[in-house]
Amino acid sequence: MKKIFLVFTLILFISCEMKNQLVTKSPDLSVELTFKVYDGSPFYSIKKNNKIIVEESLLGLMLKNNLDFSNDLKIKSISSSSHSSKWSPAFGEEKNILNEYNQMKVLLSKDSLEMSLLFKIFNEGVAFKYEVPNQKNIISYDIIDEKTEFNLSSDDKAWWIPAFSYRRYEFLHAFSSVDSISKKYFSENVEDISYDSLGIDAAHTPFTLKKKNGFYVSIHEANLINYSSMTLAPKGDGLLEAELYPWSDGTKVKLNSNISSPWRTIQIAENSSDLLLSNMILNLNDDPDIEKDFSWVKPGKYMGVWWEMIGTNESTWWPSSNHGANNKKVTKYIDFASEHGFDGLLVEGWNEGWHPGWCCSGNGNPFSFTKTQKDFNLPYLSEYALDKGIRLVGHHETGGQIQNYENQLDDAFSLYQKHGIKFIKTGYVNDVSKNIKRIDENGETVFEWHHGQYMINHMQKVIEKAAEYEISIIKHEPVKDTGLRRKYPNFISREGAKGQEFNGFSSNGVNHITILPFTRMLSGPMDYTPGIFKLNNFRYVSPDNRVIDKNAIVPSTITKELALYVVLYSPMQMAADLPDHYLAHPKAFEFIKDVPVDWSERKVVDSEIGSHLIIARKDKYSEKWYVGGITNENEKIISFDFSFLDENKNYKLKLFSDSSDTHWKDNPMEYEISNQEIDSNSKLELRMAPGGGFAMEIILQD
Ligand code: NOJ
Repeated sequence: MKKIFLVFTLILFISCEMKNQLVTKSPDLSVELTFKVYDGSPFYSIKKNNKIIVEESLLGLMLKNNLDFSNDLKIKSISSSSHSSKWSPAFGEEKNILNEYNQMKVLLSKDSLEMSLLFKIFNEGVAFKYEVPNQKNIISYDIIDEKTEFNLSSDDKAWWIPAFSYRRYEFLHAFSSVDSISKKYFSENVEDISYDSLGIDAAHTPFTLKKKNGFYVSIHEANLINYSSMTLAPKGDGLLEAELYPWSDGTKVKLNSNISSPWRTIQIAENSSDLLLSNMILNLNDDPDIEKDFSWVKPGKYMGVWWEMIGTNESTWWPSSNHGANNKKVTKYIDFASEHGFDGLLVEGWNEGWHPGWCCSGNGNPFSFTKTQKDFNLPYLSEYALDKGIRLVGHHETGGQIQNYENQLDDAFSLYQKHGIKFIKTGYVNDVSKNIKRIDENGETVFEWHHGQYMINHMQKVIEKAAEYEISIIKHEPVKDTGLRRKYPNFISREGAKGQEFNGFSSNGVNHITILPFTRMLSGPMDYTPGIFKLNNFRYVSPDNRVIDKNAIVPSTITKELALYVVLYSPMQMAADLPDHYLAHPKAFEFIKDVPVDWSERKVVDSEIGSHLIIARKDKYSEKWYVGGITNENEKIISFDFSFLDENKNYKLKLFSDSSDTHWKDNPMEYEISNQEIDSNSKLELRMAPGGGFAMEIILQD
C-alpha cells in the first residue's frame, strides 16, 4: 500500500461560536458539524451547503454500574488536525483513494472520569466515535446503552429493511417516512414478518434517506470490531436512536478494558449517483498490520456446483441419487470452468452433516468440515482442478452452529490448505430470531442474536484464522460490511442481502436490484451471484420430480445479468448458472469471461434509486472500459454519451442490448450484439426493456 501523507495541525476550521459550541467544517467547507455541551449533555448537528442534514442530536454511552456518559459532562480540552493522504488498495473499485478530512477531538470529563468524542468531517459527510480510555475509577467498561441520536425529519423518506428479524438482512426494502419503521408497516407493505415478534422496531444500516431538502444520506458504521451492530430505532418526529443488538443477558457490549466504538457515519450527497462514490467507510478503516503479508489474496471469477441445488432444483446437498457434489459431475464442471478461463469452482454439499432437514433452525446435524461424502474425493478432485488451472472454492455451511464450527476451524482450514484451496464460502443459515446457540460461562445454553457482539467476534475470529492459512472468505449470512476488508483483504466478499438465490427458490421481484446498489452495496462488495441466462422454465418441482415449475422465473433479462457484473462490485464474482445454459448463449457468455473484477476508476453515468443505474468502470490492467445499465419494471430510453473516455482517441464498442421485444416477464432471453467505432464525442440512444438493461465493452484502438 503506497501512502502519501500530509498531516498538519490547524485550528482555523474550528470556531467557538458560543461558549461550549464548536463548529468544524469539511476541507471544502461544504459540510459543517456543530458540537456543544448543553446542561451537561453533548449534542451534535450537521449541515451541508447551509441546509440541515441532522438536527441537534444527543450523544452518550451508558456503562454498567450506572455510569452515564451523557450527562454532567464538561469540555476539558479540544484538539484538532487536518489530514490529506492517498492510498492504493491491493484491489478494488478505484486504484487510488483520497482520504481527506478535518478532525476534532473533544475530551469530556464527568467528575474525575473522562470520555472522548472524535469527529472526522469529510467533504462527503461526517463520522464520529466514542473513546473511553482505561481509568482507575471505572469498574466495568460493559455498555448498557448507546445513546447516539440521529435527529431527522418526519418528512424524510428512507429505504430500509427491518432489524431484529428472523432472516438477518435478507429482505426487500421498504420506502417510507422514518417514523414508519416498524415490523407492522413492513408486514403490511413489503413482506409478512408479523409472526416474528421478538425484539424492537428498528432498521438495519446502511440506511438510505432522501431528505425533503433534496439531499441523499446514508447512515452506517465503519470498523465494527469487538462491539455490537448498530440499528436505528424510530422515536417519533423524525428522531432515530442507535440501538445495539444485546447479548442474551441484556448487556449491549462486553469489554474488559477501554472503549473504542465503531465510527458512526453519515454520508451526504446531492444526488443518488454521488452517494455511490464515497470512500468514507474504507477511509475510516486501517491498512493491514505492517508485518502481515496479504499478497496471496487474489480477486477472481468462479463457477459452482450450486445453482442446481438452489435454482434448477435438480440436485441435493445431502446423500441421494441426485447428490450434486459427486466426482463425475465435479470433474465436468472443472473441465468447463478451465476451458472458459475461470479461476475457481465452488462445490457445495461435499461434506458430512447434510440431510434434507438441514435448513433453517440451527438444530440440524452438526456439520463436519473435514469428512467428505462417499462420492466426493477431495484429494483427487483438488489435484485434477489444479492441473487444469482451477482452484476448488471450499464451502463451510455452519447452519449457525458456531461452537461446532469453532471447534473444527484449524482442522478444516488446514485440510483445505493442504489441497491448495484459497477461497472458502462460509454460511450461517439459521432463520429464527435470536437463535445462535452458545454455552455461557456457567455451562448454561443461551441464545444470541445474529448481529450481536458474539457473532461479530466469531466472524472476526474466522477471518483472522483463515489468514493464517492463506485462505480468503466469501461470507454468506454475514454481519454487515463496515470496511474491514481494508485491514483484512482476505475478507474478500460477502452476501448480506437478498441475492440472486431468492430468484431461484422464490422471487426478489423485478425492482429490488435497482435499490440494492444504493443501500446494501454502500457497505461494500456483494456476492450477489449474477449471470443467470436461463431465466424461465429452469426449475424442477423437486430433484425427484423432473416436472418444470412454470411459475419460477428470474425477473431479469440476459443483458441485465451481464450488466450486473459492472453494476455490483465484487472482487470475487460468480458465473452462477449451469454450463449448458451458458453454452446456449456463447456470445453473451464471452462478456462474463472478459469482464474484469479489479478496477482503476468508476463513473456513475446516471441513476435514481429504485429506477435505474448506469455505471462505467475502467479495467485496472488495460485501457478497456465496461459499462452496465439496469432498469426497474419500466422501459427506459436514455441518451448515452461517452464523455468519460479520453479525448482524441478511438475506441471499439461492443454493445449487448435488449431487443425491441425483450421483456423480463415473457421474453427475457432475447438480446442483440452490435459493434461500432466511437470516441469521447459519440452519442447513442439506448433502450432498456422493462426489467432489462445493457452491457458495453469499450476497447481502445491503436
Ligand atoms: C445460503 C447461501 O446463501 C447459499 O448460497 C448456500 O447455497 C446455502 N445457504 C447452503 O449453504
